[in-house]
Amino acid sequence: MHTTFAGKRIVLGVTGSIAAFKVAGWVSNLTKEEARVAVIMTDSACRFVAPLTFAALSGERVHTSLFTQEGAEAIAHIQLAREADLVVIAPATAQTIARLAHGLADDLLSCTVLATRAKVLICPAMNAQMYSHPAVQENIEKLKGYGYQILTPESGRMACREEGVGRLPEWEQAREVMLQILAVPDLAGEKILITAGPTREPLDPARFLSNRSSGKMGYSLARTARRRGAEVTLISGPTALACPPDVCCVRVETAREMGEAVLAHCQQATVIVKAAAVADFRPVTMCAEKVKKEQADLQLPLEQTTDILKELGKLKKKTGFLLVGFAAESQNHTAEGEKKLKNKNLDLIAINDIGSANTGFEVDTNQVTLLDKEGISSLPLVSKEQTADLIWDHVVQMLEKRNKE
Ligand code: CTP
Repeated sequence: MHTTFAGKRIVLGVTGSIAAFKVAGWVSNLTKEEARVAVIMTDSACRFVAPLTFAALSGERVHTSLFTQEGAEAIAHIQLAREADLVVIAPATAQTIARLAHGLADDLLSCTVLATRAKVLICPAMNAQMYSHPAVQENIEKLKGYGYQILTPESGRMACREEGVGRLPEWEQAREVMLQILAVPDLAGEKILITAGPTREPLDPARFLSNRSSGKMGYSLARTARRRGAEVTLISGPTALACPPDVCCVRVETAREMGEAVLAHCQQATVIVKAAAVADFRPVTMCAEKVKKEQADLQLPLEQTTDILKELGKLKKKTGFLLVGFAAESQNHTAEGEKKLKNKNLDLIAINDIGSANTGFEVDTNQVTLLDKEGISSLPLVSKEQTADLIWDHVVQMLEKRNKE
């Protein structure tokens, strides 16, 4: 799996909290994403989890001591500090946070943090009372002042059987913050409007017409654009997905509501990507009460919805945004894509093959063909997140070209 983590050197400091066992899973996930993980453990961390666990998961020797003769020529803390693309301390105990806030250099981890020029992410995990103590909070403020990022702990039930803020967040959340730190901010300054998911066109209070869109492609576009520095607004039809971090989410239900939300937000946008699978038809009437079996006449008169993308294509000249559409096709992909590119006045179209099992609706992978007035390029079959990054690579090139003109 080739992602932003591939080839990156992550120096991971593990300190003495029960949450250390959770971080073993993080190491496993990081190595799956091809990061090179060097683990430093404090003495108290070694009481919770054996260094051998981290060695097996990272495939590397675990560093536990400042004073070791093994590899002495390299000076471990300087070597690790230099190599690091990112230093992560997880879980970070109150003790380690205090040590770092006061610039102490009495173990391998604190020396490495002092010696590095890499970005530092601190992930506190402790009892809720400890976390809210003014001494800990003041120390955390100091760390922010040094330019370190803090992964705010979650609220919930903890190992000490108390409820409160202090739990180490799950991998998905930590991953997102790490990727935001590592990503190149090549979309900084862009205001990007993305639509995602299906729409629902109601027949009566219980029934609707919709389609198989899960929203995964649009949400991946929103998450990756935010990571790359853009200000992102996501207008989403009904999906089971959570709003990506730092993204402004607007939830809608019908094609009409989506159209209204898009028109309300499009003036500010510099780039618009319409990944939503908007319903093309809706029932002419919506019954206020549930239609009874015996009463149904088994005819369903439909009318066409407004093509939001086409409307945006008309507005484009005035407002100047870059307009990207999607095309869901099961046959004649290129010809259909070309037609939509021209008819809807788009700058770029991503043609989605919905005819195969690994692409299109519901699945986590996708294979997209990009088409603009310069030509056509086929992207590989990869995850929707990687597809999103490849689409942004193309958009970045188009924006650069536009800025030069
Ligand atoms: N789209 C839209 N409003 C609609 C229908 C579609 O904005 N009422 C947008 C989609 O968000 C997508 C693009 O148009 O970016 C293409 O959608 P697609 O369903 O592939 O094509 P249609 O134009 O609906 O044409 P057809 O279904 O006949 O292929």
